[in-house]
Formats: sequence, structure tokens, C-alpha cells
Amino acid sequence: MQDKLDKAAGIDGKRLWDKLMRLAEIGATGRGGLNRQALTPDDNEAHRVLVTWARALGLSCFIDDIGNLFVRRKGVRDDAPPVMFGSHLDTQPTGGKFDGIYGVLAGFETLQTFEEAGLETERPIELAVWANEEGSRFLPGCMGSACYAEPDKLDEWLAITDIEGTTVKEAVARYQTDLSDVERRPLGGPVAAFIEAHIEQGPILETTGNTVGVVTGIQGARDFRVRVLGEEAHAGTTPRGRRKDALRAAGAIAQALYASMDDADDQVRFTIGEFIVSPNSASVVPGRVDFTIDFRNSDQEILRRLGDQIESICTNHAGPCRVEVKQIRWREPATFSPQVPDLIGQAAERLGLAHMLIPSGASHDAVNLQKICPTGMIFVPCEGGLSHNEAENAKPEDLAAGTRVMAQVVYQLAIA
Ligand code: GLV
Ligand code: MN
Ligand code: MN
Repeated sequence: MQDKLDKAAGIDGKRLWDKLMRLAEIGATGRGGLNRQALTPDDNEAHRVLVTWARALGLSCFIDDIGNLFVRRKGVRDDAPPVMFGSHLDTQPTGGKFDGIYGVLAGFETLQTFEEAGLETERPIELAVWANEEGSRFLPGCMGSACYAEPDKLDEWLAITDIEGTTVKEAVARYQTDLSDVERRPLGGPVAAFIEAHIEQGPILETTGNTVGVVTGIQGARDFRVRVLGEEAHAGTTPRGRRKDALRAAGAIAQALYASMDDADDQVRFTIGEFIVSPNSASVVPGRVDFTIDFRNSDQEILRRLGDQIESICTNHAGPCRVEVKQIRWREPATFSPQVPDLIGQAAERLGLAHMLIPSGASHDAVNLQKICPTGMIFVPCEGGLSHNEAENAKPEDLAAGTRVMAQVVYQLAIA
């Protein structure tokens, strides 16, 4: 057994790094980061490059009805549910080179290592590239994995639009055309276990000197869209008393929301990240403002209580304007069952890597997979804890270490 685990851990860190840098060319902003939002031509191109690499190794590729991509290596019992691993290739508009992409390429490196070492597994093993994890173009995120876990909700997700009115359905059709030579398969299916490797996106591993974070769970989230409706009017002539200034109202609403969320121990995560003023013209009193709310907490009760106040705070601070609040996602906090986290901790120990238990503040596709199979995540440090930033960075040796852990865990799960 130990020789097989050694073979699994014989991943090539330089090959992994080179692939990270190759994918960082697609959608590069020129400032070190990436703008490769979900289901855009650049995102589709990144999927295409992965398919090319997979086919060069003789591995099979599949796409589904929401734009997920799978790379599969056969098992001895090829009809058994696969051990799955992966993450996402889409990015924020000013994203980094590692968020999501690391998990996909750690998975690819695992496949390549097993293939080249001739490591047989009982179960098939599958790399999953989940569609639209970031939710920047189509809100909410983690869409591909959510659809995989609950295929019945596909039509609801396909109807979501981006800011230009393009539906997910149209964008997926374009994806399927761009990858028309890749076999289609039905959405969903049984999974034996799921593992996601990811940069931490926070400072804890770096500041504590740990190389591996054994993730215990993912905090809950509620996302909202708010629309403030006023009346467009002439900026030079309209007296204050006659104005229905949507921006003024939205500003008051935002201030009141921030105040309601500022907790003493700094555990509440509250962000207004998108804010769109219409018609956005210097001499027109704004007639409409649309903004998003991303509210997260690991305590179910706080998520309920503070989240339930949002609509009334918006209404109470709207002044002469009208306000519409729409909740678009409510995801409870998730705690991973111990099976996969235990294996991750044991692999880190076996490989002599400093490790710790850590909760995830960021969302990940694992939050959806844990609803249908035993799931775990491996975090590795990133520089300064910085993420969702073009300067996001990580050390090649840490990325390789996390991949070694993942490869061993995949092997153990896949021989069972
Ligand atoms: C994922 O990118 C998140 O927003 O947590
Ligand atoms: Mn991510
Ligand atoms: Mn992200």
C-alpha cells in the first residue's frame, strides 16, 4: 500500500505550475490577473485547452446541460460511482491566477500521475470543472455544482440573465457549440466522494505557518438584489423637495445596512459589491439604482435574524423612492462529515506537512457536493491571504504539497 501511496504522491509540481501559467494567459488583464467570467469565449477556451490536455493522455471528456466539464479515468469497476475532485476555471472580473484554477489543475495533475504511474483504481476517478462558480456574470455562483446536486432545478438556473440580458441558457448553448466535439451526458449522477483543493483566500495558514488546511465546513450565505426606483429629472432645475433621487436613497439604505451588520466581534461578512446607477449621466437625477448584497455567516441563527431585517431596512430608508428587494439565494452553513477531512489530515501527517483544521469563509462548489456525497477540501496558503485580486499569489511548493495530499486521498477513496 505504501508504495502505491508514494506513487500517488509523485506528482510533478513544475508541470502543475506550468499549466497554471498557461491557463493564466487566457483572459489575462495585463496587470497580473484574469478576467475570465463564466461561459464567456475566454472561459470556454480555457475548458477547450483542458480537453486538449486530457485527450493527449487518452482520457475521456464529457460536458452537461449547465456547462460543467468532466475528465474521466476508468476504474476496474467502471460502473461504480466515481471519486470526483475539481473546482472551477471561471474568474472574477479582476480575479487571480489561482482561485479555482489550482483545484482543477491539482486534479489534472492527479489524473496524469495515476495514468503515467499505471496506478489502477477500483472506482473511476473524475475531474470536475464546475460552471460559473464565481457568480460575477450570472448571480448566484456555484451554479454548475448546484445543478449537479439538484438537476430538477435546471430550468430555474437557465433562466437567469447577465447584465446584458443574455440568459444562462443562451450562454450554455454557446459553450456547447464551442465544445461540440465533446460528448454530452445527462446532468447529475451518483458520486462516491468529492475533494476540492483551493488556495485559502485568507491569511490563517500563512500566519500560523501551516502548509495544509483541513477544511471543516463552509459558512452560510444569503444573496439579494435590491432595486431602488426614483424619477429621472433635470439636475439644474429640480428642487430638492421634488426629487426622487434613487442614488440618494440607495446611499442612505446602504449606510443603514452597513450599520445593522457591524457586529462587535467582526464575524459578519456583508458586502455591496455591485452598484449600478441609471442613467449614469452627470446632469440627470438618478432614476434607478440596482445593487447586490452578499451576506455571510457561519451561524444559522445570525444568518436568519440579520438577513430577515434587510428588506425592512431598505424600505425604511428609501425616502420618496420605491424599493424592491429580491433574495436570490439562501444557503445554510455546511459542516463536512468527517470521512474525507479525516483522510486529508492523515495524508498531510503522513507526508510530514504542517496542517490545521480551518473553516472556509469563501464559498466553494464543495458546499453543493456535500449534499450528495462525503466531501472534503484542502486549503493551501496564498500570499498575504489576498484573493479576488489580480495580485493573488501562491508558492509552487505549497501548491504541490496540497496536490500530493489530494492525490493520496483520491487513491485511498478510489480503491475502496
Ligand atoms: C467565491 O468566489 C466566493 O465568493 O466565496
Ligand atoms: Mn474559488
Ligand atoms: Mn472566487
